[in-house]
Amino acid sequence: MASLSHDVFAKVRGHERAEQLRAAREADLLPYFRTLEGPAGPVVEMEGAARIMLGSNNYLGLTGDARVIEGAQAALNRYGTGLTGSRLLNGTIALHLELEQEIADWMGVEEALVFTTGHQANLAALGTLLAPGDTVVADSGDHASILDGCLLSRAKLRAFRHNRMDKLERALEKAAGDGGGVLVVVDGVFSMEGDVAPLGRISELCARYGTRLMVDEAHGAGVLGARGAGASELLGVEDRVDLRMGTFSKSLASCGGFLAGDHEVIDFLRVQSRAFLFTAAAVPAAVGAALAALRIVRSEEGPQLLERVLDNAAYLHGGLRERGFKVVEHEGDQMTPIVPVIVGDDWKAVLLWRALYDAGVFVNVAIHPAVPPGGALLRTSVMATHDRATLDRALDVLASVKTDFEAQHGPLPV
Ligand SMILES: Cc1ncc(COP(=O)(O)O)c(C=O)c1O
Repeated sequence: MASLSHDVFAKVRGHERAEQLRAAREADLLPYFRTLEGPAGPVVEMEGAARIMLGSNNYLGLTGDARVIEGAQAALNRYGTGLTGSRLLNGTIALHLELEQEIADWMGVEEALVFTTGHQANLAALGTLLAPGDTVVADSGDHASILDGCLLSRAKLRAFRHNRMDKLERALEKAAGDGGGVLVVVDGVFSMEGDVAPLGRISELCARYGTRLMVDEAHGAGVLGARGAGASELLGVEDRVDLRMGTFSKSLASCGGFLAGDHEVIDFLRVQSRAFLFTAAAVPAAVGAALAALRIVRSEEGPQLLERVLDNAAYLHGGLRERGFKVVEHEGDQMTPIVPVIVGDDWKAVLLWRALYDAGVFVNVAIHPAVPPGGALLRTSVMATHDRATLDRALDVLASVKTDFEAQHGPLPV
């Protein structure tokens, strides 16, 4: 083969991230790609040992629920293993339509559209509704799939500092001069910090500047609000949010995503969004599981599950604070299942993760660029199905690992 004068693959050699990955693997310090050997319950089998799972998005603990498994199995038995085509051509089954109807009812909107993943739902909404000439105003903490959708659209992106309403207002002032349509898009619950967007003030600003508002409810749906419809419901702004996105990969114990809004918008996306049209429909088992989980959330049992997960979050939050950890505090002490501990230094966060892992507790680690430089977090999260004895055991492990860690590496932030 002729030699390549400028090899596009050259960048993979000696790339900073690839080098970090190699070094972390060599030292057996990689907090990512660890292997589960059983269901994602409150205690998991992971790489040959039982570990308390404080790093899952299975917030309601429904992935192991018999009714959800039965929903997946019935769909599998009826429709087979895969749909082998897009929703448009040959991949729509009755379960999609039932699920879309139930999501629309749950969200209190005219219509919903189900996607193969939540990531694609964000790509579809932003990449299709925005166009060159428009402006999108996004929180700097928004999920990567939101940013991907913004980039895909080639609209002008104006990011504002996380949850800073003065910065949002500045961005809106500037956007008003850009000359195109303007959409504000925020996470309802931010995935790393677990804080809730101030949707009351955001929606007021959107109304004042005449912009549309989209909220990503990936971490809020199935958790917040009396119906579990998310941050928009909790903060009483449902009628001021133009488009809501959600995922089945967290509280709804499956995989897939949705958009929910007015018929006109959803119908446009149905025939126009490439991330919907040019991908295979989710496997039937995923759709069946999400539908069964949603029915549990909307049943009489739903509010108890929501209460339990938030109680567990408050318990873990208080327990960590009592043991001297610096826990991210949220406005109005609003709990979400995400309880992040501030470590600061990336390397310390990784070492602490490893010590916890060895002691039988699994947490997630967020280092730069997932968080700002120097803002490394241990992202702990709870399920409704964690019992207090398990959380107490985890807190004991956290406390003793902290003591040993500080003796070796100096104090953690307080
Ligand atoms: C805030 C947020 N939005 C979107 C997504 C994408 O959802 P999915 O996992 O269904 O692709 C996620 C999770 O991965 C998320 O945390």
